Amino acid sequence: MTDKQLLTYEPAPGHAPARVRGEAPAFIELPKPDMSSGAPLMKALALRASAREFSDAPLTPAALGALLWAADGINRPRTGGRTAPSAHAFNEIDVYAVLPNGVYRYDAPTHRLVLKRASDARNLTGYQDFVGDAPLDLVYVVNMSRLLEMPAQQRDIFSAVAAGARAQNVALFCASEGLGCVVRGWINHRSLSDALKLNEDELPILAQTVGAVGTTLSSLAD
Ligand SMILES: Cc1cc2nc3c(=O)[nH]c(=O)nc-3n(C[C@H](O)[C@H](O)[C@H](O)COP(=O)(O)O)c2cc1C
Repeated sequence: MTDKQLLTYEPAPGHAPARVRGEAPAFIELPKPDMSSGAPLMKALALRASAREFSDAPLTPAALGALLWAADGINRPRTGGRTAPSAHAFNEIDVYAVLPNGVYRYDAPTHRLVLKRASDARNLTGYQDFVGDAPLDLVYVVNMSRLLEMPAQQRDIFSAVAAGARAQNVALFCASEGLGCVVRGWINHRSLSDALKLNEDELPILAQTVGAVGTTLSSLAD
């Protein structure tokens, strides 16, 4: 990221975790996605844009379930195939949902969220002020232990591509459902690793804020 881009982003003032809001169940079972919902792909592509102002209204369970399925859900149960590709199907990217009531890892095989930490770590997912207020911050984490059979020189770039594919699935889902989102590389890897209670072989490489926006995306495109 260049200095010029950095200057255009508004920094968040502090990095203290916020007080957890609401119950943090150990598992959150997610509704199955409605395959008939949302705008068609070409309309979603026409609407895709980054948003940096979000309402704090929580996402509905249906939207959260569909969004995570779009990110990295299982779309071919017979083979365990995912909605996004990964080299050799190593599935090295874990998608974390950082919610007001806790930090959760999306478990694709069971289509549910697994509690990692009962705290509100949204404001630790990036430097920009909106990240702590929007209802959802996703974090894309590379699990390096799944890449041991890949040549070392390919690991960084292939996992970055896989994270980008997942983030773009989410962006198209958001455009299709009238939600706003922005993918973010401006993160503090160390504090985010701590906030997500990651192991040494897990690396957060990308974040993405999601939420309703004041202006509907469809009105922007008209
Ligand atoms: C890898 C990557 C990292 C990015 N990091 C940030 C970021 O940290 N913060 C941010 O506000 N936008 C970030 N963006 C969004 C870009 O600024 C945005 O896509 C660009 O300005 C073009 O605008 P558009 O997405 O509305 O077309 C990132 C985009 C990419 C692809």
